Amino acid sequence: MADASTDSAFVEFQRVQKSYDGETLVVKDLNLSMPKGEFLTMLGPSGSGKTTCLMMLAGFETATNGEIILDGQPINNIPPHKRGIGMVFQNYALFPHMTVGENLSFPLEVRKMGKSDREAKVRRALEMVQMNDYQGRRPTQLSGGQQQRIALARALVFEPELVLMDEPLGALDKQLREHMQFEITKLAHNLGITTVYVTHDQTEALTMSDRVAVFDDGRIQQLAAPDTLYEEPENSFVAQFIGENNTLEGVVKEIKGKNAVVELDGGELIDCKPINVSKAGERTRVSIRPERVEINKDRLQEGVHTLKAEVLEFVYMGDIFRTRLKVAGNEDFVIKTRNAPDQRRLKPGEMIEIGWLPDDCRALDAG
Ligand SMILES: Nc1ncnc2c1ncn2[C@@H]1O[C@H](COP(=O)(O)OP(=O)(O)OP(=O)(O)O)[C@@H](O)[C@H]1O
Ligand SMILES: [Mg+2]
Repeated sequence: MADASTDSAFVEFQRVQKSYDGETLVVKDLNLSMPKGEFLTMLGPSGSGKTTCLMMLAGFETATNGEIILDGQPINNIPPHKRGIGMVFQNYALFPHMTVGENLSFPLEVRKMGKSDREAKVRRALEMVQMNDYQGRRPTQLSGGQQQRIALARALVFEPELVLMDEPLGALDKQLREHMQFEITKLAHNLGITTVYVTHDQTEALTMSDRVAVFDDGRIQQLAAPDTLYEEPENSFVAQFIGENNTLEGVVKEIKGKNAVVELDGGELIDCKPINVSKAGERTRVSIRPERVEINKDRLQEGVHTLKAEVLEFVYMGDIFRTRLKVAGNEDFVIKTRNAPDQRRLKPGEMIEIGWLPDDCRALDAG
């Protein structure tokens, strides 16, 4: 990951804090550095400060402390017309008195582009959002999802260097949403656009982004590539927020090199990888992904601890089986197994034994 103050950074937040009322900080000591062309997603619960960060980057809100740098200059020193930022905000306000075509042409006129170039670009942008037939309509004559698509086209039509998007696909149905996810990432990468994208949808975040910043309570809890975030969460908030996850609570019994033994609250012992724990006696919440749980004892390492589990529910999902177990008092322990010829379909009431590779089970903070 780039250092917070590298010369090559295109967007930088340096120790940024924001308070709206002079008391509570809604953004706390935020550091972020993005190279040109990166697609970064801010993901986090409602109220965690994502929109506030976008508004500060756009220059609509000022940071209470710290500095935001765009292409080497503090954002406050760059006049709005020179910022070259395309924006799609949560309330995708289009100009109501203009037609769709005029809405899209406007950012190009501001940039003094000739008529035939403008028409070609507007046409291409409308194609991207599948709205070619709507050039002459006004925003009030469009559905919410259609307005959202036009707002998106308007943000991209002038091929800005930086695009900020706040939940731009929220009002679209699944199919259109997936189409637009693909179009946005393709366009951003082809044109080398630097993108800050905000979403609640973690699948969207994982599939579209170069890196994802997981927000909670005004802080970035973890900033990493999608696979790292999913496979190596640094704390129990991230482990629970990203993807499906099983947690078990207990106390560290011993740490031996790369492995730890944790005694669960019911007395069972398990093997895991120490992440936020350093010594025996510390409380921990361990995290294991459903697809990393092994139900076939032959496939487990010699000597690892196993747990008894009662099958509560079996769901056939086509490509996978999703089975809910009762494990060490936890009745929401989920495992996912691939639908393969040698994979058994478990039956409710059945007692089984489960285990995992110690590396796949992370001993995190107690939460
Ligand atoms: N203009 C404002 N004045 C005062 N408080 C505000 C203002 N805008 C946002 N807040 C508060 O700041 C905090 C962060 O809000 P923000 O809009 O950045 O969250 P968010 O992560 O975008 O949430 P959501 O996912 O719901 O859009 C919230 O507690 C919110 O109530
Ligand atoms: Mg928001």
